[in-house]
Amino acid sequence: MLIRSKRSWELPESMVTDEAVFFNRRKFLTGSMATAGAGLLAGCAPPVRAEVDPSADLYPVPNNPAYTAERAIAPESITAYYNNFYEFNSPYDFSFSKNIADEAQALPIRPWEIRIEGEVEEDFTIGIDDLLSKVSLEERIYRHRCVEAWSMVIPWSGFQMSELVKLARPRSSAKYVYMETFLNPDVAPGQTRKSYPWPYREAVTMEEATNELAFLVTGVYNKPMLKQYGAPLRLALPWKYGFKSIKSIVRFRFDSFEPKTFWHDTAPREYGFWANVNPDVPHRRWSQATERDIGTRERFPTKLFNGYGEQVAHLYADMGHLGKALYR
Ligand code: MTE
Repeated sequence: MLIRSKRSWELPESMVTDEAVFFNRRKFLTGSMATAGAGLLAGCAPPVRAEVDPSADLYPVPNNPAYTAERAIAPESITAYYNNFYEFNSPYDFSFSKNIADEAQALPIRPWEIRIEGEVEEDFTIGIDDLLSKVSLEERIYRHRCVEAWSMVIPWSGFQMSELVKLARPRSSAKYVYMETFLNPDVAPGQTRKSYPWPYREAVTMEEATNELAFLVTGVYNKPMLKQYGAPLRLALPWKYGFKSIKSIVRFRFDSFEPKTFWHDTAPREYGFWANVNPDVPHRRWSQATERDIGTRERFPTKLFNGYGEQVAHLYADMGHLGKALYR
């Protein structure tokens, strides 16, 4: 008999609104810490990095005041324990816990090589520290909106994705940028879950990749990013649902055709290619009209393009409903 594990897109709304459970769990952890007198339990403070990060000296980086948010920045003590990084969920964790911080520490992030290939003048591989020496790092405060109807305001450090596109020297035939996460089931137990098409893969159009908002993230809270956020290199596309913002990237491939993504292969009717934040297009199983801010715990009305329409609406002007939709 074929026994198939439940997929995350089959999860009920409890996954969407589990933030209340999450906070109760934190309360529980805090309580148990007081009882046990053990200050090292998860849920207390961000975990200490096991290895020395050679990029630590690059921080703090200058803040770019053009990118700010009207809401308060969410504290690291919350965001470091509220992460979607399915590679680090146990294959038996059917509720897909967001507290994967400890498990993510198993990911080795040096050496970290990034492959650039496809429709480019010449394929090449570059180490993360070499890449960091070729780009200008800055801090941007972005709103981050998950398809599960929660959001947070987060201070990313990194560089504009257009800088990487320039380094890659794409040919005119390049129409899409495809990205891939590491594949290492020895350290990422989630990747032993056979019902998912590993590795995690995402893609954007060239116009999206070179939009000023597309940001490759290397740090958070103005220091090298902890592994659970997707160290040493992840994407931030603040006008799209968070699942487009792929973590721990090892490959950028420039394609002339639209690449298939992890979520396309998993649940194409639930998570489409565009995935632009839109309060008027509900998920098949829940509304996207409002969102819960993880930092303040307040509920806010969701904005079209997560409030970044000024920078990105023109990209979808000719596409009507399609460009704004979650599916297609
Ligand atoms: N990237 C990889 N490799 N694996 C993942 O599970 N989850 C995505 C995205 N990138 C994910 C990923 C989803 S669903 C979201 S909402 C964001 O990462 C979460 O980013 P955060 O943990 O920094 O909030």
